[in-house]
Amino acid sequence: MGTFIAHLHPLLVHLPIGFIIISILIDWHQKNNISVSRDKLSTFMWGMSAIASILAMTTGIASLRTGYFEGLNMFIHLICGYAIAIVCTFIWFTKWKSKNYFKGQNLILKSLLGIGLVVGGHMGGNLTHGEEHLPMPFDPKSDLPKIDLSDRDSVNVYEDIVKVIFDQKCNRCHETGDARGRLNMTTQEGLLSDKYGDPAIAPQDLHNSEVYKRISMSPWNNKYMPPSGPPINYKEKKLIEWWILQGAPFTGKLRDMEVDKQMASFLLSEYGIDLTQKSFYEKADIGALSPENFEAIKSSFFNVTNLAADNNFIDVSNHGQSKNISNERLQALLGAKDHITWLDLNDSDLDDDGLKSISQLSNLTKLNINRTKITDAGLDAIMDLEQLMVLNLYGTAISDKGLEKLESLKSLESLYLWQTQTTKEGIEALRAALPNCKIETGI
Ligand code: HEC
Repeated sequence: MGTFIAHLHPLLVHLPIGFIIISILIDWHQKNNISVSRDKLSTFMWGMSAIASILAMTTGIASLRTGYFEGLNMFIHLICGYAIAIVCTFIWFTKWKSKNYFKGQNLILKSLLGIGLVVGGHMGGNLTHGEEHLPMPFDPKSDLPKIDLSDRDSVNVYEDIVKVIFDQKCNRCHETGDARGRLNMTTQEGLLSDKYGDPAIAPQDLHNSEVYKRISMSPWNNKYMPPSGPPINYKEKKLIEWWILQGAPFTGKLRDMEVDKQMASFLLSEYGIDLTQKSFYEKADIGALSPENFEAIKSSFFNVTNLAADNNFIDVSNHGQSKNISNERLQALLGAKDHITWLDLNDSDLDDDGLKSISQLSNLTKLNINRTKITDAGLDAIMDLEQLMVLNLYGTAISDKGLEKLESLKSLESLYLWQTQTTKEGIEALRAALPNCKIETGI
């Protein structure tokens, strides 16, 4: 019953505000239009305002009993509530008695009411919605700090993520000096202790983790945490949930934990932590290509560039060069067979024989052989390219037979097949075999 009354408070506080405004308006209107009946109306309205503010005050006191609210905000809000109830009752009394007790009575009392309503109302807002009057009380925009992720491997899940949430939303009431509910959430012992019933955190056990229970219940439940100030938002709750399920490690690094898709997307959007796999050519470490071999490729009329200043892999293309891919030119490529990771021989006379040389470029991740003379038979040559992620076969004579071979290229992520001899059925079969590969058919 007590909590029911307490929950009426947020509703009832708005009544006196409306009533008082109506009363003041009636008084103002009446100044120039004095009549007995309107005087009665004014008395009645001030009486209603007094009752409404007393109701608001008593329900307010009931919510105070739940022991959650704290600080200067609460104190000022309380004083304003009392003052408004007293002043309203007094104004009603003067109306009823039709008496002026002191000079400027009307102005002074109504000014007091105005100040009380504005200040008290603002403090009340602070208490329910947090200091900054968040627009949506139960899913505010997260204000988590962005961690420097240049070194994502060094992110410590507890220190850098979970503790930051606790510090922001819980620890002003659950710290060493002021551990409400006898719970100190700033230390490991405090969080794991089960001295007083369920521990705050039970590793891998959400149902016995008091913290999880408190942040998951309805915000209207008077055990809900935090009882005042900005609430835990959805993503924060999910992060805490995940941490508990991971065994609530206090020292574990993010890189040692299991991160599912949803968590990974939260970590990216909240912290800028990008956990997506780095591509092969970003991770692999190979020595520099010798200048002679680099020059050999260049003098064979290929365009060649390093992928990045600090990366020894190279990108070779035939753009704007001769369409004739002779054996000699291919030989020059073999001088850099570990270094070529992107190769573009688009729109050339490369055929199945030439493809055999390319099969030796074991670090190839991207191969454009669109609009060349290759056929299904030639694809056998590239079956050993274990890193191949992008393959462009557009405008070639590849058919469903060739697609069947590609089924074993498990590393493939993108495949381009416009204007080939393939059929819808063949492509569907390949899609089923390589579910993670994006197949572009141009249709
Ligand atoms: C405004 C102060 C305040 C804030 C902020 C606050 N709490 Fe509390 N908390 C309390 C009070 C008071 C109690 C004791 C009453 C109760 O158990 O409901 C309590 C009790 C608890 C308990 C139960 C302790 C026990 O073992 O009985 C847990 C768990 C808890 N809080 C978790 C949290 C979490 C998690 C947050 C942050 C999301 C939080 N609290 C934020 C005031 C606060």
